[in-house]
Amino acid sequence: MIDGRTQLVGLLGWPVEHSLSPTMHNTAFKALDLNWRYLPLPVAPGRVKEALAGLLALNFRGVNVTVPHKQAVIPHLDQISPAAQVIGAVNTIVIKDGHLLGHNTDGEGFLAAVREAGFDPAGKRALVLGAGGAARAVVYTLAQSGCAMSIHNRTAARAQSLAREMQALKLAAVEPVSQLETLDLNRIDLLVNTTPVGMWPQVQACPWPRMLSLPAHWTVYDLVYNPRETRLLKQAKAAGARPVDGLGMLVWQGALAFKLWTGRDAPAGIMRAALDQWAVTPG
Ligand code: ATR
Repeated sequence: MIDGRTQLVGLLGWPVEHSLSPTMHNTAFKALDLNWRYLPLPVAPGRVKEALAGLLALNFRGVNVTVPHKQAVIPHLDQISPAAQVIGAVNTIVIKDGHLLGHNTDGEGFLAAVREAGFDPAGKRALVLGAGGAARAVVYTLAQSGCAMSIHNRTAARAQSLAREMQALKLAAVEPVSQLETLDLNRIDLLVNTTPVGMWPQVQACPWPRMLSLPAHWTVYDLVYNPRETRLLKQAKAAGARPVDGLGMLVWQGALAFKLWTGRDAPAGIMRAALDQWAVTPG
């Protein structure tokens, strides 16, 4: 029952109608018997400042932020976490005592998902495909956990500048790679695809070159979760490597946001089950 005490959170994005977050969070609130609701909040580009003022006025407890507002919210926040600062994007806002506090749970969510899949990145080496916003969260968090990295991107200059930024933080060895063909694949333990290549409806596309092998000792994490089993993950499975689908990161970034808002440990298993029930788009 929604009553006078119901606490509100939601998702600020444009568009938001296909998001899985409302289902995931409302299922979690129900499971813990919390009188909270998670609402879709479509906010057109250019109206972010007004929207945030509205959330404050309406006593929202927080929001998730998604495309295209993850950077646009930053100038309007009172405080921003060190991770969000380095990543350059905010995906979670906590509203406390009339203040807007920006966080980024994408990187930590990714880390929780790979750990849940049985991969501990400390002392290992990863190859990250892509150098956009999602890559920044992955690369920063992996580097923080002591994982060395090679970054490969279609636009080589972007991989170079991300690697340089990470080198300046002195967390772990990070190098840009312009040619995958010249890389010693045996040195690598984890492959992460942060590009949208392979996402529905382009399900036949694969971010890994057809002519290159995929070593059997690799763990292969695809941030794409629609379809659940991407072409890359199929190829990994066929090569005897360990494929891990992108749903775990979605669950864990949500679970971490849930904890920031409510102070309670999120029922991650229940959140995952809510997503598992979601009908996968054809393909
Ligand atoms: P996100 O926030 O989801 O990471 P983004 O910042 O636009 O989105 O970054 C998308 C990443 O996927 C980039 O690394 C992009 O490569 P470029 O820097 O060369 O644009 C990569 N990407 C997108 N489409 C791609 C494609 N068809 N082939 C290879 N890489 C692609």
